Amino acid sequence: MAVDGLIRHERDVAARLLRHYRKHARTLPWRSPPGTPAPDPYRVWLSEIMLQQTTVAAVIPYFESFTARWPTVEALANADEAELMAAWAGLGYYARARNLLACARTVARDHRGRFPETEDALRTLPGVGAYTAAAIAAIAFGKRAVVVDGNVERVVSRLFAIEAPLPGAKPILRDLAGGITPDEHPGDFAQAMMDLGATICTPRNPACGICPLMDDCAARRQGDPARFPVKAARKARPERRGTAWWVQAEGQVWLVRRPDKGLLGGMRALPTGDWCEGERNDTPPLPGRWQAMGTVRHVFTHFALDLSVEALVLPVKPDGARLASLLGDGQYWCVDEIEQAGLPTLFARAAMLVVASETGAPMASGSAA
Ligand code: ADE
Repeated sequence: MAVDGLIRHERDVAARLLRHYRKHARTLPWRSPPGTPAPDPYRVWLSEIMLQQTTVAAVIPYFESFTARWPTVEALANADEAELMAAWAGLGYYARARNLLACARTVARDHRGRFPETEDALRTLPGVGAYTAAAIAAIAFGKRAVVVDGNVERVVSRLFAIEAPLPGAKPILRDLAGGITPDEHPGDFAQAMMDLGATICTPRNPACGICPLMDDCAARRQGDPARFPVKAARKARPERRGTAWWVQAEGQVWLVRRPDKGLLGGMRALPTGDWCEGERNDTPPLPGRWQAMGTVRHVFTHFALDLSVEALVLPVKPDGARLASLLGDGQYWCVDEIEQAGLPTLFARAAMLVVASETGAPMASGSAA
């Protein structure tokens, strides 16, 4: 039927994929084996939030440690925000962590600790968008929902050889995904599509020879499946520069808490000035013999950043209120325990530039103001 009339029966496509999934499903800590009762909605929700923009391999250790520490949504709802943010450090996209706590508290308070079961009700929860609501409804509650992430878009764009470029083609791909989504076992089907995209229908060099949908795939018939999905030309990522200020005294360094709103919001961090395009021109926030420790490059979704790290070691700790006024609200943190600070990757790497420098932390000059 659909598009070029070459896809045989949508029902057959789903059946072939489910048969393959029953044999080859990946064993993942948030999953139940195919055909068995659905997993705990709390674990499904937590995994889906963690998996947004993040690989399965990166998520697994975080998922294990979160569920060991906070085994239920009520336990998570009672978590201390700073501890939760620190536990999330390294996973990236930190708005997810703030929404995680807000969502857990909403479910505990307004839904007596039980996740709602429909897509519409799930979408009212903080941090739960269309994709996540569909995934939870299908996987945790067995509802027929059309679950479309980047992997699924790739699979569908190839199955139907869709020439329209992403992101404009999203609604078309969603409709086509809807057309092959079965009424039975929608959770297994959603995860089978994700597995297919992650392990066989990969962005480069897809393994068409072992694909359960090889005979259904229009892109394979055309001979160059990796050409799909077609993508609109992307604008170049802007380049920004900034400086992180490492102020150390008596074995401790000043860390700030970034404002809730904005990039890395609510996370512990080194103080920085603004990050701007063009040359760096920020002046040191306090006088003294600053040492350049190097630069960390970090690519965010909408820009790339070169963050230079400047260090100042003072013989005596300045008053915290004075540092707060110069560098931003924060706290002293033991340099020897910097790995426990829960710094996001950018600042963890910046800190490593200092603590792993040849001389260890830069030496106190004694002459600083
Ligand atoms: N990516 C997003 N959700 C997933 C899931 N449930 N299993 C594997 N990969 C995923």
